[in-house]
Amino acid sequence: MAASFVDNGGTVCDVGCDHGKLSLYLIQRGKAKHVIATDINRQPLQKAIDLFASYNLSHTADFLLTDGMQGIENTADITHVVIAGLGGHTMEQVIESAPFVKVQKTRLVLLPAQSGYQIRKYLYTNGFEIEKEQTVSEKGKYYSCISAVYTGICHTPDIYDMYIGKSGECTGADATGYFEMILSQLEKKRKGFEIDNGTQNTEYTAAIEKIKQLLK
Ligand SMILES: C[S@@+](CC[C@H](N)C(=O)[O-])C[C@H]1O[C@@H](n2cnc3c(N)ncnc32)[C@H](O)[C@@H]1O
Repeated sequence: MAASFVDNGGTVCDVGCDHGKLSLYLIQRGKAKHVIATDINRQPLQKAIDLFASYNLSHTADFLLTDGMQGIENTADITHVVIAGLGGHTMEQVIESAPFVKVQKTRLVLLPAQSGYQIRKYLYTNGFEIEKEQTVSEKGKYYSCISAVYTGICHTPDIYDMYIGKSGECTGADATGYFEMILSQLEKKRKGFEIDNGTQNTEYTAAIEKIKQLLK
């Protein structure tokens, strides 16, 4: 799914590349001319190196053992940054420590493994525009892939923006599964708030009602 958000990529940075399959797919499909594959752990990075070698494509990639994008020398060439399978909080830290993505308006393709609300909140409040999202399912779990770019325009998101964002424009079985998952999370949070405070949280209620409309 993340790969489908990469079009006409020049150099694509694949953060947390693990086995390198996404990077390889981007090269093989012509979605990237070159990839910079990073991983914080040596073992997965070595798998990616070996995978590229087995396809005689090592010349199309640079591999870097690092936290996020730290230490990348030629950031000027990077057209897309793909971060798939990491949590929202880690994604936020990775983006924060790479100021070039704002300066160059590099397209971000983000597929959070969990805490999607956290990365949406970060994007909205830090001047990134969420261009589009696509819901997806894998092994019975639901995710939303986000495409975002820096515009400098910040806004304070409400609960719906944080938990649903542009995924609210998606349709189909994956979208339904995603909305149901978020609905259940928010209903639990609202209940917890009520128990703690003895009163309803109107923000949660408003978001819950909007999500119920999506499910009709
Ligand atoms: C679940 S895998 C994601 C695999 C791949 N991106 C995909 O979607 O198929 C997470 C990978 O991210 C790496 N990772 C976790 N935190 C990282 C960070 N701060 N910087 C770079 N890599 C990181 C882990 O070592 C692991 O290989």
